[in-house]
Amino acid sequence: MNAPRKRTVILISGRGSNMAALIDAAADPAFPAEIVGVISDQPNALGLGIAASRGVATKVIARADHASKDAHDVAIDAALATFGAEIVALAGYMRLLTTEFVEKWQGRMINIHPALLPSFKGLDTHGRALDAGIRVHGCTVHFVTPAMDDGPIIAQAAVPVLIDDDEPTLSARVLKAEHRLYPLALRLFAEGKVRMDGNRTAFSGFAETTSHDTVAAPSPAREEVDLEQLARITP
Ligand code: GRF
Repeated sequence: MNAPRKRTVILISGRGSNMAALIDAAADPAFPAEIVGVISDQPNALGLGIAASRGVATKVIARADHASKDAHDVAIDAALATFGAEIVALAGYMRLLTTEFVEKWQGRMINIHPALLPSFKGLDTHGRALDAGIRVHGCTVHFVTPAMDDGPIIAQAAVPVLIDDDEPTLSARVLKAEHRLYPLALRLFAEGKVRMDGNRTAFSGFAETTSHDTVAAPSPAREEVDLEQLARITP
């Protein structure tokens, strides 16, 4: 008999394209996580309509309706309890969570960040990547710890930075990778192949021959990279 699917709630603030990727992956009954709810701190978040159209329960918990940041996060925590959440997936949730909240959910809360951490923490990752002139960029799924964009890394996907890239082209390439990476990472976590162990991510249950392929390079790069061009500009 299959293990029960892990009840997962997604926190969003906006567009919700990563949320949609997770919901779509979890539409497969064999996927080890079930998306039981979406919480937004923004009443007008586009993702709310997308979630509702896919039959996922949504809840708005706006900061403005709460006296303090603490009270806001307490309300989110209460909603998570109501949903029976076992996993929290941040997907473009644009507000820093309180240390109390993070510590309560530590090891059970994951986030996607549009850069190869630990480089480019914070906002405007694509613009800063272009300014820095890096030739390989990407995205990271990691466990959430109190320091921003700092927790143990679960999975990363790399994409090339092409010489004629601008922010729109680069962010679109990374976003496409995000939509493949996040479901992969949630699957690994929900099925118990990754867990947070102190300051690290512990991996288990991988077949020797597939682990590197699955965890480190889940192929969005392979699909698009012009390796010759990358090699020419990356001595
Ligand atoms: C994504 O780039 C994600 O990595 C970052 O915020 C963005 C959210 O986009 N944390 P979306 O709402 O998932 O479309």
